Amino acid sequence: MDNQVPAIKTENLTRKYGNMTAVDHLNLSVDQGIIFGFLGPNGAGKSTTINMLTALLPPTAGTACIGGFDIKQEPLEVKRRIGVVPEGLSLYQRLTASEQIELVGRLHGLDHAEIERRIPSLLNMLELEESIDKMIIDYSHGMRKKTALACALIHAPDILFLDEPFEGIDPVSTRAIKELLRDMRAGRGTTIFFSTHVMELAERFCDQVGIINKGRLIDVGSIPELRQRVNLPKDASLEDVFLQTVGIQEDGARLDWLTDNENA
Ligand SMILES: Nc1ncnc2c1ncn2[C@@H]1O[C@H](COP(=O)(O)OP(=O)(O)O)[C@@H](O)[C@H]1O
Ligand SMILES: [Mg+2]
Repeated sequence: MDNQVPAIKTENLTRKYGNMTAVDHLNLSVDQGIIFGFLGPNGAGKSTTINMLTALLPPTAGTACIGGFDIKQEPLEVKRRIGVVPEGLSLYQRLTASEQIELVGRLHGLDHAEIERRIPSLLNMLELEESIDKMIIDYSHGMRKKTALACALIHAPDILFLDEPFEGIDPVSTRAIKELLRDMRAGRGTTIFFSTHVMELAERFCDQVGIINKGRLIDVGSIPELRQRVNLPKDASLEDVFLQTVGIQEDGARLDWLTDNENA
């Protein structure tokens, strides 16, 4: 990839569902070779954005380029360079993990010997060996997610898109996956774009984060930069920074019938 182009660049990227605007004029540029955390509450527009960036969902308006290739004009060039773990995982339920990974490897044009070499190390790293004789339909949620991640990695993509990658994954695998992602960035300069609604996951892991709420990008920068922009004490958690940034008040509706002691 040309070193000058951003890994991801969007211009007024917009997606509507009926009258509702899920992603609203998103302008974002992500440099090559960084880990970028896309943070926002449920329903903020994270998955819709990832689906557009990976050419799974057409935008209503605006454009995006991935590694310099336009998602609308050159979707195959985009797909060649990326790995994706989408929200819905899109796995064939009646295959085993190895079969599913092999299928994806072949679709990417890898030769059989290379696929055979890569699969055992992926299964080992993700602790999926026990799945070898089972079909995906019989996997736990976490195992499915790890299978989807293995599929996204088999062709050594330049840019990796992960939608809530650690949700449902145990701490041991979470640590292993984080280490692998850091090694990919350090070794091959892979760009990693991942979404999460769990703020603490981004802390110490991301080079940069973007905060999205109600379809709008609210802030982009390193976590120290974001901290500086909100008026909070130095030791405030990232969750505090996030809540301050999106302007959510903590005094929501009270569920008095659940919390208050009637006899008090
Ligand atoms: N296929 C769809 N049809 C209608 N509305 C949708 C659809 N997908 C998402 N939305 C709406 O778009 C908004 C953003 O959703 P999503 O991108 O899934 O958010 P996030 O991933 O940040 O939780 C939400 O209000 C959601 O209800
Ligand atoms: Mg989502």
